[in-house]
Amino acid sequence: YRSALLRFADDGQALYEEDGLLAVAPGPDGRERVLAAGSWQALSAQLLAQAGADAVVEQLPGRIIAPGFVDMHIHYPQTDVIGSPASGLLPWLNDYTFPHESRFVDAAYAAEVAQFFVDELLRNGVTTALTFATSHPASADALFAQAHKRQMRLITGKVLQDRHSPDGVRDETEQSLVDTEALIRRWHGVDRLGYAITPRFAPTSSEAQLRGAGELAARYSDVWIQSHVAENLDEIAWVRELFPDSRSYLQVYADRGLMRERAVYAHCIHLDARDRALMHETRTAAAVSPTSNLFLASGFFDYAQADAAQMLYGLASDVGGGTSFSPFRTMLAAYFVGREGRDKQGLSLAPSHLWWQHTAGAAQALGLAGVVGNLQPGCEADFVVLNPQATLLIARKTAQARNLEELLFSLIVLGDDRLIERSRIAQKQG
Ligand code: GUN
Ligand code: FE
Repeated sequence: YRSALLRFADDGQALYEEDGLLAVAPGPDGRERVLAAGSWQALSAQLLAQAGADAVVEQLPGRIIAPGFVDMHIHYPQTDVIGSPASGLLPWLNDYTFPHESRFVDAAYAAEVAQFFVDELLRNGVTTALTFATSHPASADALFAQAHKRQMRLITGKVLQDRHSPDGVRDETEQSLVDTEALIRRWHGVDRLGYAITPRFAPTSSEAQLRGAGELAARYSDVWIQSHVAENLDEIAWVRELFPDSRSYLQVYADRGLMRERAVYAHCIHLDARDRALMHETRTAAAVSPTSNLFLASGFFDYAQADAAQMLYGLASDVGGGTSFSPFRTMLAAYFVGREGRDKQGLSLAPSHLWWQHTAGAAQALGLAGVVGNLQPGCEADFVVLNPQATLLIARKTAQARNLEELLFSLIVLGDDRLIERSRIAQKQG
């Protein structure tokens, strides 16, 4: 491909070629991978000579190729819950979310939503996601099947919630763990699919269910773990009542084997210094969900403290608490939220850092650095083609950008699904 090209160095620095080249070829496993990426001038002659008559060059004038976006936390069954107003997290769960999720007992309904969801991710340029299903095992099957069909790298899991939940979404302790193990064996590592052990959050799992989840996480050490933590003050007060012996909300998970590499906790707003140190020591990652946190009035993720503690983090939509599938909306919300803990008059996070958090940074936080979220040699070739001519305003504004940060900021502020001309998933040959 010949086009403008965005990618990231290992240290997170954005690399950009106005006249770039992205070469893609099947890797040892047959999956399309990045063979070379850089300037057309520097790379094209040798690559074209090597490839000989097999080379096909697609010219994309005026377009920008960038890594496919990685959404670190999203709920596919909440696709239709977006924009349901409530006075905070717990009323929102009870009034909208649980009643809606109970519909996923119907496998045909789950399949229909899963198909719409995957299409919507791709339409918005999201090529990898870590997503919740519902407590119904068939809801996870439905999403895995849809992602498999498109060869996406996608991670999901059946939700564990055996208490403080209404009929229709509550599961049964022992059966929930049997079902989880069966799903791990059925789907984890099938092509690009991954399983995530998914306790909804501490208040809706019994002691036995949390311990069982931790035991599975130890036995299947390369599956993911996903949950929620420290999102909302009422939620935190409830956890303190339910787990009076725990030093903190996060410690409830730590004490049950649920913090390790490939464990991802959404929100992480109301953490203290010891919690942040624990996140860092265990290589547990935070899924920062700014549109959700603004919509549900949960609070603001503290980037300054997270950076000081060297926490792993990346961006997430958290649809349907979150309000958009679009990574551009999420990055802009993160820019607004990123002033927390800084000089509130000054600039917030750098545009290239926002973009990194939703691509290479998110992949790193998921333990998938060098696999997805970037376009360096060896990465799986998932990418998006951006068309800045998509709207008159974006065309005008990007034409005036004097440097990369100004260009990226124009796209973040003005971009939406119209900017995504194409989402390309790396295919496997043969
Ligand atoms: N905490 C427990 N369940 C949920 C959920 O579905 N969404 C959000 N935002 N927080 C939660
Ligand atoms: Fe969530």
